[in-house]
Amino acid sequence: MATPHIACEPGDIAPLVLMPGDPKRAERIARTRMEGARLVSDVRGIGAWTGTIDGVPMTAMASGMGVPSLSIYATELFTQFGVERICRVGTCGGISRKVAVKDVVVASAAHTNSSVATIDVPGVSLSLTASFDMLRGAVDAARASGKRVHVGPVYTSDLFYSSRMDIVPALDKLGTLGVEMEAAGLFACALAAGKEAAAVLTVSDHLFDGSGDLTSEERESLFQDSLEAAIGALKA
Ligand code: ADE
Repeated sequence: MATPHIACEPGDIAPLVLMPGDPKRAERIARTRMEGARLVSDVRGIGAWTGTIDGVPMTAMASGMGVPSLSIYATELFTQFGVERICRVGTCGGISRKVAVKDVVVASAAHTNSSVATIDVPGVSLSLTASFDMLRGAVDAARASGKRVHVGPVYTSDLFYSSRMDIVPALDKLGTLGVEMEAAGLFACALAAGKEAAAVLTVSDHLFDGSGDLTSEERESLFQDSLEAAIGALKA
């Protein structure tokens, strides 16, 4: 069986999915952290890699960038492939001054300018929230590794290059930790399917202090920190 964007049998995909934005990251997860990883689908270069992590079956598959791309993969995984939990593992730009570059942010909820919050129930802006159990698993794993970890709302923006940066101080005032481009879409897909999701984000840059010129080695080791927290979320 194949869906328009995933070409494999349902049994080829594990019930637990790690979802970075970048297909190269999914492959890196498979090659460095999975045992017995095999490529089960590769439509449009979005590889789905299935194997085990610490003895638990998992699939690593990228979302691409933005809510429209992520929602295609998350919807097909939840509704056609028996997936129970997806954990986004990615980066965000810092908004709150409480967070610094290299910290880990675990999103408890996602504000958004995407229509995904308003399209399902006319007249209502939905609260797009993470699974409590996955949230707890991610935070426990991040704290256990000694990382600086923050839990709170993030802002999922439809635009990376936005002309409306003037809204950022208002989001900061409301306790928003950072900005990224996918979490709200993932939470919406999970809520719609009656499944679970979480998002673990490393702060890669900061909107207010302009910091964030990381080397590729720094990026890689930061990614490992958020990856371990994301694995904790899926196993919780
Ligand atoms: N992901 C990482 N940094 C970001 C930023 N500044 N804006 C949107 N998404 C991001």
